[in-house]
Amino acid sequence: MTDSNSGDKPGGGLSRRGFLKGVGAGTLAATAGAGLAARATGAQPTTPAAVDAKILRGTVPVTLKINGKPRTLTVETRTTLLEALRAHLDLTGTKLVCDRATCGACTVLLDGRAVTACMILALDAQGCDIQTIEGLAAGDALHPIQQAFLECDALQCGFCTPGFIMATKALLDANPAPTPDEVRAALSGNICRCGTYNHIFDAVEKAKVRLAGGDATP
Ligand code: FES
Ligand code: FES
Repeated sequence: MTDSNSGDKPGGGLSRRGFLKGVGAGTLAATAGAGLAARATGAQPTTPAAVDAKILRGTVPVTLKINGKPRTLTVETRTTLLEALRAHLDLTGTKLVCDRATCGACTVLLDGRAVTACMILALDAQGCDIQTIEGLAAGDALHPIQQAFLECDALQCGFCTPGFIMATKALLDANPAPTPDEVRAALSGNICRCGTYNHIFDAVEKAKVRLAGGDATP
C-alpha cells in the first residue's frame, strides 16, 4: 500500500534517511569536538548519547498543510507526523498502534499518496498536501468511502478503520476501477486484528461503484 518504509519524502526534499544521516554526521563531529575539549581541560568527556539527546531535543517551527489549511506548530526535530497530528494538533482520528510501519493504522495521504505517518518526520511533511480522516466528511455528510464502511459493517473495534479508509481513498483516487487483486494489494499494508477483511473488501467495492456513479444501494 505504501512505500513509506524508507521514510523518503514524496516529491524530493529532505528524506528521513537523509535527515538521520545529517544528524549522524553532526553528532560525530560534536562528539569528537567534545572529546577533544574534555581532554584539554581534564573534564569528564561528554558521552555520544548525551550529545545525541541534546541535538535531537532541538525544537523548530513547522507549518503543515492539513486538510487544506495551514497549521503552524513547534515540534522537536525528531517529532513524527503522527505525533504532530495527534499530540500537537489533537487530530486523533489517525491512530497510533505499532509506531513502526507495520500495521497501517496511521495511514494518511501525502500529496495523494498513502503513507504511514509514524515513519515520516513532521519536518519532512512541510510543503506537502496532507489529508487525514478528519478531512473526508463534508459536515455531517460522510464521504462515500466512510458511508460504505458503515453500511458494510466493515469494522468491529474500529481502530484500524481510519487507516483502511485513507488507503482506500488513495487507491480509488488513483485507480477508480481496481480489480479485487488490486484492492488486496493496495490494502496489504493495513492490518485488522478483528479480522473484518471480507466486510472491508465489500465496502471498497461498494464505494468504488458509488464513486463511479453506479447504483450501490445499502
Ligand atoms: S502506527 Fe504507523 S504503521 Fe502502525
Ligand atoms: S476493526 Fe478492530 S482492528 Fe480492525
